[in-house]
Amino acid sequence: MDETAVPPSIKSMSEPVETGSVKTTGKRRWADDEDPETDSDTESDEISIKSTKSFEAQNIEYVLENGRRYCNDTYFMPNDEAEQTRLNIGHQIYLNLLGGKLTDVPLAKSAPRILDIGTGPGDWAIEMSATYPGSTIIATDIGVFENGLGSTIELPNVSFQLDDARDEWTYHEPFDLIHLRGLAGAFSDWPAIYKQAFRHLTPGGYIEISDTDPAADSVSLPDTGDSYLSIFASAMRSAAEAMGHPRDLRHLLPDLLNAAGFTDVRVIERNIPIGLWPEDPIENTLGKMGLIVLLEGLEAYSLRHLTATENWTADGVRDLCEKVKVEILAAGKTTCCVKTVTARKPFSRARMRKNNMLQRLKQLDDETK
Ligand SMILES: C[S@@+](CC[C@H](N)C(=O)[O-])C[C@H]1O[C@@H](n2cnc3c(N)ncnc32)[C@H](O)[C@@H]1O
Repeated sequence: MDETAVPPSIKSMSEPVETGSVKTTGKRRWADDEDPETDSDTESDEISIKSTKSFEAQNIEYVLENGRRYCNDTYFMPNDEAEQTRLNIGHQIYLNLLGGKLTDVPLAKSAPRILDIGTGPGDWAIEMSATYPGSTIIATDIGVFENGLGSTIELPNVSFQLDDARDEWTYHEPFDLIHLRGLAGAFSDWPAIYKQAFRHLTPGGYIEISDTDPAADSVSLPDTGDSYLSIFASAMRSAAEAMGHPRDLRHLLPDLLNAAGFTDVRVIERNIPIGLWPEDPIENTLGKMGLIVLLEGLEAYSLRHLTATENWTADGVRDLCEKVKVEILAAGKTTCCVKTVTARKPFSRARMRKNNMLQRLKQLDDETK
């Protein structure tokens, strides 16, 4: 989306959205109940000025499939209330893992420009806006979580935009940080995403990508033998592969970022406990949150990809999820690996030469004192 373009009608994320054409093949377009009280143009214009979550909400279609709501026909994760709650808890886990911080990159500027791709309910973008009140944050997604966090509070520095990151990016000013979290399986062409990100960063600007996915064997049971979890993970991987949206974590390999021109690539792996087994109270809380997010996520991660292949029915997927659930609850010290990669767009040679010269001058200055 063009950053400066004014959408024809901007509404709050919490407002009902209009639905489009009806599809067949067992999928049902979702029709939100519209509230005539809040649906007038004047009112929605007012909301767009005050709202934190302004979206061009026209023509948003939802697809209801096997009891879950999806934002379109292809992206595999649901965007219903259950998923939103799961993502809200997931955000708290990330906060906890990073010791209360929101990012692993050292953002030096007091007024950074930040792009959050696939923002989901927007928790990260909203908290970044409070941490960096001078920042300008653009948070994009292809779907809308209408009960999203902060939909009624004023955040003048966050602009939520409906935008597909696979399309050409047309932002007019470069960013200091581009953030992608939880987007494994969303893109078949990660190098193309990295290429665009590189183009839209300031020299010295950062990209940060974080992911975890049971399909990519992020979850480890203490007993590494045959398990329903491994059957589940490999079924998801094959189905995703067949759909052209790989569910591995190969997009976090440093080579991919280096190939796009990035430098200073840093890989950070963190393990979270899954379950009630940790004795340390902080770890125990993390384990509880991890357990909820994982168990709730089993169906969310698998239902669409698996039922899209010939081999699985929705009941069959739910049955397998149940078996994995029982296994995880009985397993004891289960863990989940969360991987983050950060990298930097290099400064121009001229800028580096200037910096080196300044450093040299400072050294000379110090030596003559
Ligand atoms: C698993 S959620 C993660 C949400 C958020 N980043 C977080 O960490 O809580 C992935 C999000 O990416 C969005 N998404 C998927 N494909 C996308 C695309 N092509 N462009 C932009 N967003 C996309 C989905 O709609 C969904 O909201």
